[in-house]
Amino acid sequence: MTENQGTPLIQIKNLKKYFPVREGWGKLKYIHAVESVPLSIWPGETLGLVGESGCGKTTLGRTILRLYEPSSGNILFKGEDITRAAMLPYRRKMQIIFQDPSSSLNPRMTVGEIIGEPIDIHGLAKTREDRKERIAALLAKVGLNSEHANRYPHEFSGGQQQRIGIARALAVEPEFIVCDEPVSALDVSIQSQIVNMLEDMQADLGLSYLFISHDISVVRHISRRIGVMYLGYLVELSESSELYKKPLHPYTRTLLQAVPIPDPQKTRSRERSVLEGEIPNPLESPPGCVFHTLCPKATGRCAELVPELREAEPGHQVACHLYAT
Ligand SMILES: Nc1ncnc2c1ncn2[C@@H]1O[C@H](COP(=O)(O)OP(=O)(O)OP(=O)(O)O)[C@@H](O)[C@H]1O
Ligand SMILES: [Mg+2]
Repeated sequence: MTENQGTPLIQIKNLKKYFPVREGWGKLKYIHAVESVPLSIWPGETLGLVGESGCGKTTLGRTILRLYEPSSGNILFKGEDITRAAMLPYRRKMQIIFQDPSSSLNPRMTVGEIIGEPIDIHGLAKTREDRKERIAALLAKVGLNSEHANRYPHEFSGGQQQRIGIARALAVEPEFIVCDEPVSALDVSIQSQIVNMLEDMQADLGLSYLFISHDISVVRHISRRIGVMYLGYLVELSESSELYKKPLHPYTRTLLQAVPIPDPQKTRSRERSVLEGEIPNPLESPPGCVFHTLCPKATGRCAELVPELREAEPGHQVACHLYAT
């Protein structure tokens, strides 16, 4: 089911998203939030997406769902180009779970209204009774109960609020969910409960996830493959354990070295190289490889030519001149 064959569920081709910004009376400039990302997500798989704050993860996730309109490039759902399609029929198939559950739930709506809204928009319930039963079943699925339908979001803990957000996403029976840092705002003790629940649902319903996190250790176990972003570019993409065993891109290596290891002996003996120096401003991205200004291995070529994402080893892609053949 998760083999790369047949048609990908989601395919994006050279997707770009630029945000216009005007500084004072100055010229209009563009933040290059997402740059030419090529990516496929297969039925039933979890693709982890990592990279530090501001690298474009949320923008990429939202642009795939057309919550942001792409600046250029194409988005395909099951092989169908939806870049300019009317989105209502596809909204049912593609959902999002947000990072901050409290701000993503309308405080003036009851939990039943919140979960019922997408059911109504897509006309999924045949009768009032059917609607009520669907809401109760969704609440049960996320570990809440039908009495919770009459309460308001503020009456719940952060973990419970995220469960409500997940129930809302599931209400339309989607096939693909962008999980945008779904556990980052939660207590560590609650994080694994929510991640396990998302995994169980995936097994149960055959869902595909784009699982976004700035913390590479969170996505490691749940992702079949992991993509690494830096300043709008996808710089590496590989099967999850392979990425850990053999990170190729100098930025991925830096990210992995920054993950704390519980064993103090190991931490001490390990060469430390968290990014030193300032990450370039996305308004003034350097020419060539965007990582060359901080890269320990950069050569003259890196400052001139943008490296393309290419297969360096079977199933392992990297955008780096070091691996150019
Ligand atoms: N609506 C917007 N208007 C203008 N600029 C934006 C907008 N949304 C994001 N950006 C800019 O685009 C870049 C990418 O932001 P994005 O939120 O996608 O990053 P991220 O990887 O999700 O970061 P984080 O880990 O902090 O959530 C940043 O420079 C950000 O300031
Ligand atoms: Mg984000």
